[in-house]
This record gives sequence, C-alpha cells and structure tokens, in this order.
Amino acid sequence: MENERSEVLQSKRVATLTLDDGRSIEFPILSGTLGPDVIDIRTLSKLGVFTYDPAFFATSSCTSNITFIDGDAGLLYYRGYPIEQLAEKSDFLEVCYLLLNGELPTAEQKAGFNNSITHHTMVHDQLARFFNGFRRDAHPMAVMVGVVGALSAFYHDSLDINNPQHREISAQRLLAKVPTIAAMTHKYSVGEPFIYPKNKFGFVENFMYMMFATPAEDYVPNPVLVRALERILILHADHEQNASTSTVRLAGSSGANPFACIASGIAALWGPAHGGANEAALKMLEEIGDTSRVPEYVQGVKDKKYKLMGFGHRVYKNMDPRAAVMRQTCYEVLKELNLENDKLFALAMELEKTALNDPYFIERKLYPNVDFYSGIVLRAIGIPINMFTVIFAVARTIGWVSQWNEMIADAEHKIGRPRQLYRGAVRRDYLPMIKR
Ligand code: SDX
Repeated sequence: MENERSEVLQSKRVATLTLDDGRSIEFPILSGTLGPDVIDIRTLSKLGVFTYDPAFFATSSCTSNITFIDGDAGLLYYRGYPIEQLAEKSDFLEVCYLLLNGELPTAEQKAGFNNSITHHTMVHDQLARFFNGFRRDAHPMAVMVGVVGALSAFYHDSLDINNPQHREISAQRLLAKVPTIAAMTHKYSVGEPFIYPKNKFGFVENFMYMMFATPAEDYVPNPVLVRALERILILHADHEQNASTSTVRLAGSSGANPFACIASGIAALWGPAHGGANEAALKMLEEIGDTSRVPEYVQGVKDKKYKLMGFGHRVYKNMDPRAAVMRQTCYEVLKELNLENDKLFALAMELEKTALNDPYFIERKLYPNVDFYSGIVLRAIGIPINMFTVIFAVARTIGWVSQWNEMIADAEHKIGRPRQLYRGAVRRDYLPMIKR
C-alpha cells in the first residue's frame, strides 16, 4: 500500500485573527487538489484560546487522498473516480484495491488481491465460541461489535502497525473475515448452523452463500441479486470523514489494534443518525404503509415529531449521488423479481416526490441519502431488516481500513486529543457530610 501523503498545496495566503484585546495571529490558508481551502489553526493555542465546533460542522480533522465529496454539487469520488462509474463498471474487490492502494489494479494485481482475500475468508474456529454468549435475539450489530472486536485477541501479538506489510495483512484479514462474521451473525440469529466460505465463489457470491445456504440443500446465488448487492457494497465502501470513520481514526491514533479500531467503527455506525438509518428508513416506510398516509406523515415531520429517515445529510445539500444509483438499482432488482408493483418502492418514490416539492425540505436542503432506497433493495435480495446495518458495516470495512492505514502510514500522525469549553463548577473545598 502506498504511503501517500496528500499534496497540500501551501499557498502564500493567510487568515488573520484579531481578538478584542488587540492581540492577533496569522494562520496559513491551505489548499487541497479539490474542495474548500482550510485555515491551519494549529498555532492558535499560542493565544491561549481554542476553537469551538462540537459536531465538527466546520472542522477538517486530517488530510486525505482517498475520498472526495462535493455536497453542493452532489459529487462522490473514490481516489478521483466518480461513484457512478465505479458502481456501473467495477466490482467490489476492485474498489477495495483502489481505496486501499490508490490506483485501479492491473489484471495481475487484481488476481493476486482476489486470491489473497479469498484465502483469508475463514475465521479461527475458536471465534465461533463467542457467539454463544449472546441471546439469539440480540441485535446483529451488537454481536458484530463483540465478535469483530474479539479478532484483536487473535492477532494482537503478530501486529506491528508501523510495519506496512503487517498493516496490509491486517487490512486483508479484516476485508475477508468481516463478511464471514456477518453471515455467522445472521445464522446465529435464525438458529441455523454456520456455513463455511467456499473458495470457488466470488466475494459477494460467497457472502450470499454463507448467508442463505443450509447443509440440507445446495444454494446457487442469483446473479442479479449478487450484482445488486455488489453495487450496494461499492456505494457504501467509503465516505470521507463521517462519524464512524472519524471514530476509527481517533481509536487508531492511540496505536490501538486495527481489529479493535474497526469494532469501534461498527459501534459508531449502528446509530440511526448514521448507518442505522437504512433499517430505520424501511421501518418508517412499513409504518406509513400506504401512499395515502404520506401527507399525514410528512406533516408529523414538519411538526418535528420525528425525522424523515433516509433524508438529509451533513455534507450533501443536493441529491446524494449514491441515492440516485440506489433508486435505479431498486427499479432493476424489483423488475427482475417481477416486483415492479412493490408497495414500499411506490411509497418511497411518492414520499420523495412529496418531500422534494415541500418548502420545509427545500429550505433545509433535505434530499434522499444513500439509506433511503437501500433498505428496499436489501429486502428484495432477502436480507432481513435487522441485518441492514451489518451489510453497511461489511461494505464500510474497506473504507475504515483504508483511512486507518493512511493515517498510520503518515509518520507525522499524532494521538487525537480535542479540548473543551469547560462550564462546570469553579474550584471549591471538600464539604464534610455535616455541612451538605
Ligand atoms: C449516513 O456523514 C456521512 O457521510 C454519513 C453517511 C456515510 O456514508 O458514512 O453518508 C451515511 O449516515 C447518511 C445519513 C443517514 N441518516 C439519516 O437518514 C437519518 C435522518 N437524517 C438526519 O438525522 C440528519 O439529516 C443527519 C443526521 C443525517 C444530518 O443532520 P445535521 O447535519 O446534523 O443537520 P441538523 O440535524 O442540524 O438539521 C438541520 C435542520 C434541522 O431543522 P431546524 O432545526 O433547522 O428546523 O434540518 C432538519 C433538522 O430538524 N432535518 C430533518 C432531517 N434531517 C435534518 N428534518 C426531518 N427529517 C430529516 N431527516
């Protein structure tokens, strides 16, 4: 994996901050290859003040070469390649190679990478014991956090994160084993035996085989559904410094084991404001039930009783480009399965049309995001709703690992340690019980 450093174009431009007491300081303005400039405020502490940006609305936490998003124009590039082209022309393991290494693989590189991933899909048989501690009805994301985190116990002593080869094998182990663990998580929840991976299958076929095969009969994955799931994985692979990726970077900045870091990313992804939105969006569509209830439901959103799940985004103030591809995939899969009249798809499109024509949503620049349609496709593929966010985690593992690797490969990286605006009690002496 290349130890790329972002080419941060040092400009001669500066930003000057002047405090009300007359003190001032100059900060360099830095430009990347694409996107907004940044003000390098690293010397601000000299003035004895901090910046304040609790949810990081205006804060860039790192330089990166991996993924570029233009929220106003609705653009998403993986290593410069538009997501629409990758979703149509590439496959998931090729996208993984691209995110990890920075370039599309040659035929030889692709064959070698695929072979290596294929031969790391099995997990240590001891790992299967971890499932028994969970109730069968545990949410699969709870199981994923626990079992993926447990991987750090298997590789902790054979991992020098400052060794590029060790980082590479860890990346490949995670990319190969997270789908196996995800399928085991599903099997555990439905009380069926674990299905071992088969090397004759491609990456996505193998995952569907482990998810849906049983020892009792042969299972041949439907190529249309395989392609639809492949596209979903490509669309979800990486997305710049989102909440779960920032979690992985912060955990990794302490030098923690990458398996533990990915487990922290899975935990962060679980939230309904983030990766849990696909499950929440489908439950919302099932709750609305019929297009006749759309106006009433939308009014509830405007009355702030609840949010429209699958809508809105911190960065996209235009259509999430992934949502457009997902909508098309929805149509193709439902058509292939003779489900064109699927009620939930019709409902989703009616909901989208209503929201996109309503000033409440237009003023707030609320558009469908990647999670609005993905649940309909996952349901059509046969993925149970409680596994939707697990699928997101299977896809995003490559993004987390690529971002983790980029950070650790940067010799100048330091442990992340934000400060705060303290508004607690000022100094006071201990009170004996009699005086409380
Ligand atoms: C993902 O960051 C990433 O890149 C994430 C992701 C990735 O690939 O990693 O793209 C994946 O997480 C996609 C987002 C999935 N989440 C949802 O679909 C859940 C519903 N969406 C919202 O919770 C919300 O839109 C967020 C969390 C996604 C973004 O919220 P922000 O940027 O914090 O904006 P905000 O909450 O301050 O909202 C601004 C206004 C508010 O109204 P006012 O107070 O100004 O009146 O917009 C409203 C919000 O109430 N609003 C919504 C809304 N989202 C925002 N109102 C109704 N429905 C919504 N979905």
